[in-house]
Formats: sequence, C-alpha cells, structure tokens
Amino acid sequence: MTVHIGAKPGDIAETVLMPGDPLRAKWVAETFLENAECVNQVRGMYGFTGSWKGNRVSVHGSGMGMPSLSIYANELIRDYGAKTLIRIGSCGAMQHSVSVRDVILAMTASSLSTPSRGIFREVNFAPCADFALLRAAADAAARVGTKTHVGGIYSADVFYDERPDLTEIMTRHGILGVEMEAAELYNLAARHGVRALAVLTVSDHLLTHEALPAEDRQSSFAEMVEIALEAAFA
Ligand code: HPA
Repeated sequence: MTVHIGAKPGDIAETVLMPGDPLRAKWVAETFLENAECVNQVRGMYGFTGSWKGNRVSVHGSGMGMPSLSIYANELIRDYGAKTLIRIGSCGAMQHSVSVRDVILAMTASSLSTPSRGIFREVNFAPCADFALLRAAADAAARVGTKTHVGGIYSADVFYDERPDLTEIMTRHGILGVEMEAAELYNLAARHGVRALAVLTVSDHLLTHEALPAEDRQSSFAEMVEIALEAAFA
C-alpha cells in the first residue's frame, strides 16, 4: 500500500490505462476486461486489474489536473512497477481541422508549467510520447476507423482560463487540443524510464464551441479505449 493506493504489491499490472474520472475506470474494467478486480478505492479513486485478450492490464483513475495525476502516476511507477501508462481522456479542440468525436494522439504536450517545473527550472524540457506506443496507436486508430490526428497538445493548469490569448497562440502554433494531464505524465515517464502516451477524444471545441452530445460520449470513449489497449499490446 502507498499513501493514495490501497492495492497490495503485485496487484497492479505493468500496463495501466489512466482515465481522469475514476468511474470511467470502473466502466472500462466492466466493459473491456475479463476477471477484473477492484484493487484500489482510496478516496474513491478506483483502480481495477484484469485481462484483455490474455494480457494483464490495470485501469486506474488519475483525477483532474497534473498535481493529481502526479500522485497516482508516481506511486504506480515507483511502488507498483508500472512500465506503460496510457492516459485515456477528453480534450478541447484548438484547430478547425479537428472535430468533436475525433481522436488526438499527443506526440508532445506543451504547458505554461507542470509539477516538474521545480526540477527543470530554466530548462524548457519537451515532454513527448513514447514513439513505439504512438506508432502502434496510430495503426490501431486506422484499423478502428476513427478520424485521428497526431501532433502537439497543450496541458493547461486551469479549465476556466482567464487568458483567451493563450488559445490564439496555441492555435497559431498548430496545437491540436487542450487537456490538463499529459505533460506531467510524459515528464514522469521520461524521469523513470517508462513508456507513456495520451489518447484523447475531442469532447468540445474551443473555436466553434461545439460539444459532444452526452449520448455520444460513451461510444467515443469506447473507441479510444480500444485504440489504447491495442497500442499497449501491439
Ligand atoms: N480545457 C481543458 N481541459 C479540457 C477541455 C478544455 O476545454 N476539454 C476537455 N478537457
């Protein structure tokens, strides 16, 4: 057990999918995994371990924002031996070429700051995805048939941003979408020598203000999970 995860040693698989929402973790376990067991429920941040096509896999909530993700990813990597961590979550689109329901594979994650800023200080470290995972996810997305974009995203510190100029700057520099966790996941993966990727479904559009209807959320999320699982075990 760690401070925030009640799982026993060995209860977590080497491959962990990380949705922001713990109830999504429960839904993924119930929908995609065989013999799934709940291995954590401290603070309601559910974690499950089961198998997918004969491969052992865990799915564990990250919470919202980089400080929350940092707690769970650190403990999963350092205390439970996680080697492949794939964020599955939603993002807001920042390009007209990207539509709601599309999937974004985050090749890089820019930010204003991350919890690692205190370590990097004057270094503008470039958080990036694991290339093998990224390539496998792009191949899987083509098979699944989801319209998919590969490129840079922006990991924000706040959802309710008071700086509209930031969206303009990010859009002008080709950033595909905004979410709140990937940059620190990539920083931690680099620090600990493990693999990471963020697979994101577009839930809203910052330029058109379109939003994914509630009834479409589940099916979009399911395609994203399939892409993540296929990439993890390619
Ligand atoms: N901003 C930040 N995070 C998000 C958004 C957004 O618009 N949409 C989904 N996650």
